[in-house]
Amino acid sequence: MTAPALRPGTPADAAAVAGLWHAGWHDGHAGHVPDGLTAARTLTAFHERAPLRVSDTTIADIGGEVAGFVMVVGDEVEQVYVGSAHRGSGVAALLLDEAERQVAATGYDEAWLAVVEGNARARRFYENHGWHDGGPLPYEVSAGGSSYVSPCRRYVKRRVRARP
Ligand SMILES: CC(C)(COP(=O)(O)OP(=O)(O)OC[C@H]1O[C@@H](n2cnc3c(N)ncnc32)[C@H](O)[C@@H]1OP(=O)(O)O)[C@@H](O)C(=O)NCCC(=O)NCCS
Repeated sequence: MTAPALRPGTPADAAAVAGLWHAGWHDGHAGHVPDGLTAARTLTAFHERAPLRVSDTTIADIGGEVAGFVMVVGDEVEQVYVGSAHRGSGVAALLLDEAERQVAATGYDEAWLAVVEGNARARRFYENHGWHDGGPLPYEVSAGGSSYVSPCRRYVKRRVRARP
């Protein structure tokens, strides 16, 4: 298999990011957040969101395919998503490592993220990579014209490093 290459997102990636984001969102969140929020997270909604987030996005590219992506804003690692065919392959770890590097390069020594309480796979993944559960974080989300509160945990990683 071709090794994944990390690169900045471009507008041309937005459609692939939207598809992967939509599928991964439902894998990790459905049943763990309010039903109204799940109903509002349509593929169309992700096609609207992804182009707005290109400048925050780093892509894991495998032979021209978007295998996964991460979005970083300041000290927050906002989204870590890997296509189902690439889970368990190490692609997610590469993306998380890059996200930590970006947070450190911006001048922070601690990174944080919100993960839905019931997203056991993601929580295990973060814990395996040195993140710890910093406590409950009710996360307010607006979608489809309504507001929802998702039961999340605030995960933290201290002493992130800007590697050369
Ligand atoms: C979260 C995500 C990026 C992690 O990447 P990944 O390649 O699946 O992660 P890994 O396979 O390296 O690690 C997952 C760990 O969870 C474990 N796991 C798998 N299914 C699990 C489950 N249902 N419950 C608990 N742990 C589970 C795996 O065994 C592995 O742990 P181990 O290495 O100690 O055995 C990926 O699963 C994904 O894109 N999920 C959908 C989107 C999502 O939820 N993103 C996170 C939003 S905060």
